[in-house]
Amino acid sequence: MTTLGTPLAPHATRVMLLGSGELGKEVVIELQRLGVETIAVDRYAHAPAQQVAHHAVTLAMTDPQALRALIERERPALVVPEIEAIATPVLEALEAAGTVRVIPTARAARLTMDREGIRRLAAETLGLPTSPYQFCSSLEELRAAIDGQDGQSGIGYPCIVKPVMSSSGKGQSRIDGSADIAHAWQYAMDGGRVSHGRVIVEGFIDFDYEITQLTVRAKGAGGTIETHFCEPIGHIQQSGDYVESWQPHPMSAAARQEAQRIAQAVTDDLGGQGLFGVELFVKGDQVWFSEVSPRPHDTGMVTMATQWQSEFELHARAILGLPVDTTLQSPGASAVIYGGVDAEDIVFADIEKALAVPQTSLRLFGKPESFVKRRMGVALARHDDLGIARERAKEAASRVRPGKPPEDAR
Ligand SMILES: Nc1ncnc2c1ncn2[C@@H]1O[C@H](COP(=O)(O)OP(=O)(O)OP(=O)(O)O)[C@@H](O)[C@H]1O
Ligand SMILES: [Mg+2]
Repeated sequence: MTTLGTPLAPHATRVMLLGSGELGKEVVIELQRLGVETIAVDRYAHAPAQQVAHHAVTLAMTDPQALRALIERERPALVVPEIEAIATPVLEALEAAGTVRVIPTARAARLTMDREGIRRLAAETLGLPTSPYQFCSSLEELRAAIDGQDGQSGIGYPCIVKPVMSSSGKGQSRIDGSADIAHAWQYAMDGGRVSHGRVIVEGFIDFDYEITQLTVRAKGAGGTIETHFCEPIGHIQQSGDYVESWQPHPMSAAARQEAQRIAQAVTDDLGGQGLFGVELFVKGDQVWFSEVSPRPHDTGMVTMATQWQSEFELHARAILGLPVDTTLQSPGASAVIYGGVDAEDIVFADIEKALAVPQTSLRLFGKPESFVKRRMGVALARHDDLGIARERAKEAASRVRPGKPPEDAR
């Protein structure tokens, strides 16, 4: 039996989000709709989810003492990580002590917090197909991993170097020959979120396309956890950051089955309740695991236009122990709106022109500060014809003109 309380009252059901970006904002909105009391935490003030939550807390979530003190003070029923950079040992300790339930589990948050935990789990423990890879802690190790050493062959070219702790393609670069190695190492050292001085080098997979396989672990009628799959989401990445996504992406029956097998294996192991974004590369009927987010995925924002229950509603329902329905309502697409300027308090012009594109809608995230390449919003489109949906999403996104506020505009 699931009981939900009344927010801001003694029996409220209280949920704390660690990370309050655009994905967390939509999760909070879905929780609000069910009368759940929400606490949105981020390292900066006025983060998107903080603007729609009951309570906002600004705190460095990588600081173990501060994070522990916050959770012990607030005592939420659930802690929902929305980002990777969190002091996860604190979550493991508090979960073990029975203080909170972490979504999906504290162990999943730890394993997916850097590339090493999840890659070793997927490839070495679960035996799932991945690109060939090695972890390196110095430029010399990186050279040896790529070019080989002591008669052992290396990963070779082309390959991709990524900091172990980074997202959205930060610090990531492709290496086409030995002349690129030193630069790739330095670029990774400068671009990692928390400088660990460690990278993964991966053999380049020449895929036909890549998908996000949204996978939900939710309680079924009998109270046991069941796995549900959404229709595959196709997407395009530029410099490791998503610019466009659509659903459903057509797949061969064999590739679709293999994608679900891989997603099931990795989410079974991570466990708990909630939605996961499993990133996969596909060539013909062959599928490679790339990485997984134990939470809604940026490419999955398209589901706000395409599914009866968006990935955010699915996540909210699953974590609360409620039934889910992953059925597609209509094909559709999403296209990212970048800031285009480095400025605070930016304004978005020509919104009426963007929304004049038929069957589209917009999400403007309300981030207090814009960067040229910061994702500030997304356009969504719905159409039976995927090609038309993609064109319309891109058209609507391109019509939005973000800029500096009038007094600074020159
Ligand atoms: N081994 C590979 N072979 C080919 N392409 C790759 C490989 N690894 C990464 N890519 C490309 O780079 C993109 C970003 O890689 P990855 O998902 O590992 O980085 P990320 O920084 O975690 O990105 P995000 O946080 O946006 O998911 C992938 O979606 C894919 O397009
Ligand atoms: Mg990724």
